[in-house]
Amino acid sequence: MTGVPSFLLVSICSALLLVAQLSRAATADQWRGRSIYQLIVDRYALPQGADLDACDPGQQTWCGGTWKTVMDNLDYIQNAGFTAIWISPVSQNYQGPRTPYGDPYHGYWIADATQLNDKFGTADDLKALSDEIHRRGMYLMVDVVVNNVMALTTDPDLSTFLFKDKSLYHPYCPVDYSNLTSEQQCWLGDLNVTLPDVKTEDPTVISTYGNWIQSLVQQFNIDGLRIDEPIHYFRHVDMPFWPAFCGSAGVFCMGEVFEGGAADVGPWQGNQSMDSVLNYPMYTALTEALTIPGPQNMTAVADMIAQSKQYFTDPTVLGNFIENQDVPRWLNMSVDPQSLYNAMVFNFMSDGIPIVYYGQEQGAHGASDPYNREPLWPSGYANTTTYQLVTKLNTFRNFLVNTTDWATTPMQVLTSSPNATAILKGKIVSVVTNIGSPPANLSVPVYTPWKQSDILTEIISCDQYSVGSNGTIQMQYSKGGEAAVFINNDDIQGAGVCGYAGVVGSTGSTISKAANGAAASVSVSRFSTVLFGLALAFVFFFVSF
Ligand SMILES: *[C@@H]1O[C@H](CO)[C@@H](O)[C@H](O)[C@H]1NC(C)=O
Ligand SMILES: *[C@@H]1O[C@H](CO)[C@@H](O)[C@H](O)[C@H]1NC(C)=O
Ligand SMILES: *[C@@H]1O[C@H](CO)[C@@H](O)[C@H](O)[C@H]1NC(C)=O
Ligand SMILES: *[C@@H]1O[C@H](CO)[C@@H](O)[C@H](O)[C@H]1NC(C)=O
Ligand SMILES: *[C@@H]1O[C@H](CO)[C@@H](O)[C@H](O)[C@H]1NC(C)=O
Ligand SMILES: *[C@@H]1O[C@H](CO)[C@@H](O)[C@H](O)[C@H]1NC(C)=O
Ligand SMILES: *[C@@H]1O[C@H](CO)[C@@H](O)[C@H](O)[C@H]1NC(C)=O
Ligand SMILES: *[C@@H]1O[C@H](CO)[C@@H](O)[C@H](O)[C@H]1NC(C)=O
Ligand SMILES: *[C@@H]1O[C@H](CO)[C@@H](O)[C@H](O)[C@H]1NC(C)=O
Ligand SMILES: *[C@@H]1O[C@H](CO)[C@@H](O)[C@H](O)[C@H]1NC(C)=O
Repeated sequence: MTGVPSFLLVSICSALLLVAQLSRAATADQWRGRSIYQLIVDRYALPQGADLDACDPGQQTWCGGTWKTVMDNLDYIQNAGFTAIWISPVSQNYQGPRTPYGDPYHGYWIADATQLNDKFGTADDLKALSDEIHRRGMYLMVDVVVNNVMALTTDPDLSTFLFKDKSLYHPYCPVDYSNLTSEQQCWLGDLNVTLPDVKTEDPTVISTYGNWIQSLVQQFNIDGLRIDEPIHYFRHVDMPFWPAFCGSAGVFCMGEVFEGGAADVGPWQGNQSMDSVLNYPMYTALTEALTIPGPQNMTAVADMIAQSKQYFTDPTVLGNFIENQDVPRWLNMSVDPQSLYNAMVFNFMSDGIPIVYYGQEQGAHGASDPYNREPLWPSGYANTTTYQLVTKLNTFRNFLVNTTDWATTPMQVLTSSPNATAILKGKIVSVVTNIGSPPANLSVPVYTPWKQSDILTEIISCDQYSVGSNGTIQMQYSKGGEAAVFINNDDIQGAGVCGYAGVVGSTGSTISKAANGAAASVSVSRFSTVLFGLALAFVFFFVSF
């Protein structure tokens, strides 16, 4: 008797697989090994036939990117080896006349969070983008703003907002940044564009936002949230909002805490708040150490590594970045390309989830907002030196993540000298330097755990090194200050770089696709194996009786 049971088997399996699919919820553990490409939907890609010269970031208005144009141009991101994409906010924005600060092309001027922003497409378009990202084995992270809405006055018409009752907002007062009480209670923005502050401690606000984020995450299969300014006003006061909000979302949350110090930012990571925060403290240290011109204070990096261990619950899931929509492009602050490459190598090879802000791989060099939101299309999506560096770093990191416990192993400082810092993470040694492109008559010894005469490959140059006595590698900078990433040749099979084939294929993209797919399907396939077992047991039950 096979007809009925096999029919049952098929339908039970598909129903349960559907459940598995619906309940896809990526955790901090699953995000740790990912690498993120951050993009502003309006600025990433244009539809076919649009004018490629019409976008001036200084104009602060829409340039024409949509969820569909992002979807149609995912190869560029996937071929560089990224395993996740962070998109700018999807909620409906202010829809009135142009303001002194332009139009909300960036998506951060929220009106009603529960509606989608029709400037960027329909619900079907967003769903299609999400499906396509998942089909490629990548994760989707969506930017959300819950702290405030946007208005033009201090007494706005609340009817266009999700919360229509005045009691659900803090009363207006101008923020005075020298006064903590004021910072905790007043409105962001200024009198041109006010940002009415939602009372995130109010039970109605908490439950309404909770229901919304749960349904948004489920409807669009979102794998993670990036949370805009979770603290600006309420700092420590408002922390209890986040466990409830991120609990409702059921996915990884990474918040923006726009401060320089690890002691200030650290408390925002953990059960009392959220999974992760953007690594502003390390960003600050990297600018101090590596920008040219700049203070070139290399001590800042080793010092911040020590502070991160002290103040963060888990540095391995922090969001590492050197550019975003709020800070100047790295190349706007630092004119030497080696400075950029060294900072990027550090972000990929140290503890944390590397984030590349769209355009960084194309040498974008705009100043702060709005000049750091350049359109990407004038670059022609070229295979630049920086794009190739990103591809190599992603390929190598995906290999380490996929085949070793590298991602969960905390980094440690091997050498901190005035011109070079060396770190060990897992079995990889990385050395970054502040000397820039010109050759320097400088030699820095790095003491490693490797044995004398071990042969290493340095994956940026693909040069071979032999380990000296006492485990020493001599860094020589006679060709300029390239970053270096060393792996022992005993461990390199499958790395997919420097002529070593990847486990599955021989090109960067093939390898990273495989790595993504494998990583992305783990939880679902385990779950479906269990369910398949259950279904079999069920069938057995029917057959036996
Ligand atoms: C600080 O800000 C609060 C709230 O706006 C205000 O009541 C208080 O007077 C301010 N304190 C000082 C010293 O300005
Ligand atoms: C409003 O915007 C204008 C134009 O950018 C600027 O000159 C003015 O200072 C702004 N007003 C306030 C209150 O910030
Ligand atoms: C956070 O909560 C999880 C699950 O309840 C628990 O296992 C973990 O120990 C907690 N972490 C801290 C730092 O309290
Ligand atoms: C360099 O950074 C260290 C650690 O952050 C700091 O203690 C020191 O004062 C800085 N040195 C200079 C010259 O700024
Ligand atoms: C920094 O950005 C501004 C505005 O986008 C631009 O005028 C300037 O040339 C940039 N500087 C560098 C070094 O790229
Ligand atoms: C970029 O160029 C490098 C070096 O020529 C090549 O190996 C790589 O496949 C290219 N990548 C893409 C996506 O075309
Ligand atoms: C080494 O770093 C110092 C700052 O600590 C800087 O002044 C010097 O120029 C650097 N050396 C080279 C060769 O770049
Ligand atoms: C490089 O530095 C060493 C030691 O500081 C010195 O003896 C040597 O002459 C220098 N070489 C050149 C080419 O400047
Ligand atoms: C040997 O390596 C250690 C660090 O591992 C270092 O402190 C020591 O100075 C080195 N000794 C020599 C002789 O280079
Ligand atoms: C990644 O790991 C999975 C499972 O361990 C394996 O099947 C796959 O071949 C690996 N891919 C790469 C590129 O290492």
